[in-house]
Amino acid sequence: MQTKESFEKYREITDEEMKRAFAHAAEQVNRCIPVFEGGFPAAASVDNFYPKTENDDWTNGFFTGELWLSYEMTGEEKFKEAALAHVKSFKERITKRIVVDHHDMGFLYSPSCVAAYKLTGNEEAKEAALLAADNLLGRFCEKGEFFQAWGEMGKPENYRLIIDCLVNMPLLFWASEVTGNQKYKEHAIKHIKTSMKYVVREDYSTYHTFYFDTETGEPLKGVTAQGNRNGSIWARGQSWGIYGTAIAYKYLKDPVYIQKFRNVTKCFLKHLPSDLIPYWDFDFVEGSTEPRDASSAAIAACGMLEMTKYLEEEEAEKYRGYALRLLAALTEHCLYKDFEETNGILLHSTYAKSSEENSVADGGVDECCIWGDYFYMEALVRCCTEWETYW
Ligand code: GLY
Repeated sequence: MQTKESFEKYREITDEEMKRAFAHAAEQVNRCIPVFEGGFPAAASVDNFYPKTENDDWTNGFFTGELWLSYEMTGEEKFKEAALAHVKSFKERITKRIVVDHHDMGFLYSPSCVAAYKLTGNEEAKEAALLAADNLLGRFCEKGEFFQAWGEMGKPENYRLIIDCLVNMPLLFWASEVTGNQKYKEHAIKHIKTSMKYVVREDYSTYHTFYFDTETGEPLKGVTAQGNRNGSIWARGQSWGIYGTAIAYKYLKDPVYIQKFRNVTKCFLKHLPSDLIPYWDFDFVEGSTEPRDASSAAIAACGMLEMTKYLEEEEAEKYRGYALRLLAALTEHCLYKDFEETNGILLHSTYAKSSEENSVADGGVDECCIWGDYFYMEALVRCCTEWETYW
C-alpha cells in the first residue's frame, strides 16, 4: 500500500536508462521481424516465448505498433518495411471480416494502420482504419448510449460496455478528422460519457464491465470479466481507466475528467506493492504469491504521460515523475535481459487468471503480453521525444 509520500521516495528512471531500455526493446523487435514474418506474435507468451499466430485476435495491432515506435526512434527502414507489410494483413482482415465482431477496432487499427497513415501517408492503411471505424460504429447501442464490447448485438447477456473500450475511442476521433464526418466522433463522445459515469465507482476504483437494460437503456450493474471479483479492482482495468480518462479529457476537454484522472490514478498508485509491479488484481497485497501484471503499470504510465499535456506545469511534472518511477521499476524488474530467456520485452504480465467470480480461464499468467511490450515502449518514447500519438 502506497501513500503519496512513500511513492515519491522511489527513484525515477534517468534519460540515459530510458534510451538504453528503448534500444534494448527495439533490439528484440528487430530480432522478432523474421521470427514472425507472415504472421504475428500471440497475445501472450508461453514460458516467455510468443508463439506465431494469424491476424485473428484483438492484440495483433501491438507488434505492428512496436515496429512503428522502433522506426520513429531509430529511423531504420527495416522497421517501416515490416510494419507496412502488416498493413496488407489488416486491410484483408477488415475487408474479409475475420474476427471483427467485437469492439477492439482501436486496439487493432490505431497502432497499426492509423500509425502507418500518420507516419507515411499510406492510403491502404487509411482505408483499412476507416473500415474498422465503420465496423465499430455498428456496435453502438442507442439504448444506454455505449459500444457493446463482445458477443451478438442486443442480447441481455452481452448488453454491456467495458472500461478497456475507452482506448478504442481515438480511432473514431481520427476517422472524423480525416473524413470530416462527425458521426464517428459523436458516437465516441456518447460512449465516453456513459463509461465515465458508470465504470468509475464512488471511491474511484473501477468496474471492468457495466450492464444496461436492453429495453430502457437503464444502468443495471457492474460485473467483472477478468478481475478477481465483481467488487475488486482489476489492475489492468484501473490502468485502462487512467489512460481512458486522459483520452476523455484530450477529446472532450471537460474539466470533470481531470479530477477523475487524478482520483483514478491515485487509487492505482495506492495499491502498488513495494516493488511497484502491480498484482493482477488489487485484492492481492504485499507478500501474496499471486502473479503480477506489469502491463498495467506500462498502460498507467502512458495515461499519466498523455495527461501531462493538459495540466499546469507543476502538476504535469508530478505525473511525469510518477510515470518515470513506474518505468524505473518496470525496467529493473521486468525488462527482458537476453534472447535466451524470451522473445518478448516485458516479463511478468497476466492476461487472464480464473477465479470464482470471473468468466475467464487461466491464460498468459506471469508471461509476456504483447500490449505490455507495446505500452512499455510507448511510455519510453513519450518520455524521450515529443511523440505524436497514434491514439
Ligand atoms: N482489453 C483486454 C485486456 O486488457 O485483457
